[in-house]
Amino acid sequence: MAERSSFVVVANRLPVDEVTTPDGERQWRTSPGGLVTALHPVLTEHGGTWIGWAGGTGEAPEPFDLEGIHIHPVPLSADELERYYEGQSNATIWPLYHDAVETPVYKRRWREAYRSVNQRFAQAAAEVAADGATVWVQDYQLQLVPAMLRELRPDLKIGFFLHIPFPPIELFMQMPFRAEVLRGLLGADLVGFQQRLAAQNFVRLARHLLGLRYEGQSIQVDGRKVKAGAFPISIDTREMERLAADPKVQARAKEIRAELGDPKTIILGVDRLDYTKGIELRLKAFRELLADGKLKVGDAVMVQVATPSRERVEHYQSLRVKVEREVGRINGEFGRVGVPAVHYLHQSYSKQELAALYVAADVMMVTPLRDGMNLVAKEYVACRADTGGALVLSEFAGAATEMRQSFLCNPHDPDGVKDALMRAVAAEPAELKRRMRVMQRHLRTHDVAQWAQTFLEALEVAAEGRAPESAE
Ligand code: ADP
Ligand code: F6P
Repeated sequence: MAERSSFVVVANRLPVDEVTTPDGERQWRTSPGGLVTALHPVLTEHGGTWIGWAGGTGEAPEPFDLEGIHIHPVPLSADELERYYEGQSNATIWPLYHDAVETPVYKRRWREAYRSVNQRFAQAAAEVAADGATVWVQDYQLQLVPAMLRELRPDLKIGFFLHIPFPPIELFMQMPFRAEVLRGLLGADLVGFQQRLAAQNFVRLARHLLGLRYEGQSIQVDGRKVKAGAFPISIDTREMERLAADPKVQARAKEIRAELGDPKTIILGVDRLDYTKGIELRLKAFRELLADGKLKVGDAVMVQVATPSRERVEHYQSLRVKVEREVGRINGEFGRVGVPAVHYLHQSYSKQELAALYVAADVMMVTPLRDGMNLVAKEYVACRADTGGALVLSEFAGAATEMRQSFLCNPHDPDGVKDALMRAVAAEPAELKRRMRVMQRHLRTHDVAQWAQTFLEALEVAAEGRAPESAE
């Protein structure tokens, strides 16, 4: 049997992409995400394993090592992709946990697949984890894993982190297999959330749904203690700053400005094409400001990057139609030959190109109706070492708790969004500088490495006192 790991990450996706080299060879590369960057030192120090789906359907690749991490792929069949990932995860839980801004869809056959795929992830973790190991389960796709894993391996220290919001009781109670999901999460020693309010929702739900008591800052479950707390995730701030300072990125930012016709104001949006992100309302605010004559095409231009996402899920298909219709309407009504009002880019970009866009943008619009955190908001701030630029930020993004010096707005109030955008456009450089500096200072001390360290230390404390039992 292969050597087992004392630190295991379990996430829906593996942090790797399969790429083809110039000589046609297929190779795995680590994907440039904040999570893998943050966990890399911990994983390499402990001979750590990352368990996840490699993308695609059918047989999974054999486990392999990459850059000091054991990679343990979990297979998904085409049917599971549809029922577990697109269905239960992204058409039921995703909308429900985001304030039901789209109507959640409930189907029994999706739940069965969610259960069996969660069981497969738990089984894989039980096999690779060493005695008394720390296992960190990530996100809403795997909420049943903590309890399933505890059943298989009571010796483990199990942490769970939810990257998306956790809804209030009234919403959570809609979910048909609600008690099972809650019990799934309660299998962990520590359940982490982006926001304090989300952790409070969880504690209240445990009392309401299962009658569990909250004592000494822990939920009491079957003679065990489960802690819940807020651990706001962040970005690799230094890396983002370094990227933005790169002369190639700076040159590209200038080129982007020139390509856009050197307007006074570049307004930028960067999001997955997701209905929680408030892309439509942002476009509408821009259209109304053009119609009101407060903004003028040529002086102001909007660039909306909308990364393709979950394209087979119906909610996402209808959103794409609506967004593209609105972009067409704005350009049709306000554009001129060679001078569109909105540049809409339904594509993925490299980190360098995104950084260049951030550096080029005068106003960054991050207007989700609900978002667990929103890393784009933090990336924009980290890229503006010049302390220029303005962040317009929805109060409903987790990032709003920390980025208090942004131009905050309520995305449900179109006039409020327009007002925040106009205040950002008109702000004096000295004011922008003052706001940016405070937010940048915060991000330097609250980066993704600090997030991971804080969570893992809290997990150690939470699991303390439970004598490690042997798994054998
Ligand atoms: P979510 O996790 O819901 O997609 P976040 O804003 O928290 O939202 O994180 C999005 C991440 O994806 C950011 O790190 C951002 O840089 C990256 N990203 C967004 N759009 C693109 C794109 N078009 N190409 C490449 N990366 C992107
Ligand atoms: O932020 C939530 C999240 O599910 C992340 O875990 C993930 O990286 C991102 O959204 C994209 O989602 P998906 O894995 O469904 O493409």
